[in-house]
Amino acid sequence: MVRLSRARTAAFSAALLASLPLVAHAAPTAPTPSVPPHQKWSFDGPLGQFDQKSLQRGFVVFNEICSSCHGMRSVTYNDLSGIGLSPQAIRDFAHAKQVPGPLDAAGHPTMRPGLPDDHLRSPFPSEAAAAAMMGGVAPPDQSRLAAIQPHGADWLYAFLTGYHMPPPPGAPVVPGKFYNDWADGHLVGMPPPLMDDAVEFPDGTPATAKQQARDVTTFLVWASDPHRNDRHRTGLYVFAYLSGLLVLAIAWKRKIWKRGTTQNAQDTDD
Ligand code: HEC
Repeated sequence: MVRLSRARTAAFSAALLASLPLVAHAAPTAPTPSVPPHQKWSFDGPLGQFDQKSLQRGFVVFNEICSSCHGMRSVTYNDLSGIGLSPQAIRDFAHAKQVPGPLDAAGHPTMRPGLPDDHLRSPFPSEAAAAAMMGGVAPPDQSRLAAIQPHGADWLYAFLTGYHMPPPPGAPVVPGKFYNDWADGHLVGMPPPLMDDAVEFPDGTPATAKQQARDVTTFLVWASDPHRNDRHRTGLYVFAYLSGLLVLAIAWKRKIWKRGTTQNAQDTDD
């Protein structure tokens, strides 16, 4: 067995560390890094809450860009009340979409306007049709995208802002694939979906590609867990209630023990 001296092991580790890319795009053929840089999110932590304005902007990005290729089957139009849409806005929005209806008398498929209880319309009739249209890979349903990635929000943000056009020198070039720092093997079949000012935000926030990435990430995290705000609010109430009980319990205990000591004092007096 070959035993390296401690100094040599240290020198070896240092050389290994030095050869690792410090910045993800420094080496186009290096393995895809697994831990994306951490961003600050309003919904972080056990008491975090989604920022409603960001959710609404993210929905604009999803609706105008992502939903032309990706479905979001687990969310209904009604669920959008969770990002602050009014019942009327939800009815109008659903109504403007055409969803598959019942078969007609001759057995042909029909379409009908959407209803609030319908699930968000998928852009392709089936996974196979989606794959055929998209050069072999179907765009994954976005309902659980943020939840299945180990670093959900941070990864989505890094991925959405991780394209390089043109690819860095030395990167593999494959027709129909795009270079992305965070894609598996740096290549992905999705063209860069975000461009500065490709959408307009109703609240006037400048729609840079980075801002769109932030907001659509927030929306995707919400979509994978639409009841997080309610749960965290309930958590807060339960915490406040239990803290109140604790204060009462302490006060009560003091009172009982005080009475006990007075009683004892009287006992000794007698
Ligand atoms: C032109 C169609 C198209 C549009 C628009 C589009 N995507 Fe995609 N997306 C795809 C395809 C195709 C894939 C599968 C690519 C692959 O696996 O190589 C994909 C994959 C993804 C993935 C998974 C990547 C991975 O490596 O796991 C994410 C995340 C994603 N898209 C997010 C988005 C978001 C967010 C938007 C909107 C801002 C969006 N996409 C818009 C076609 C699209």
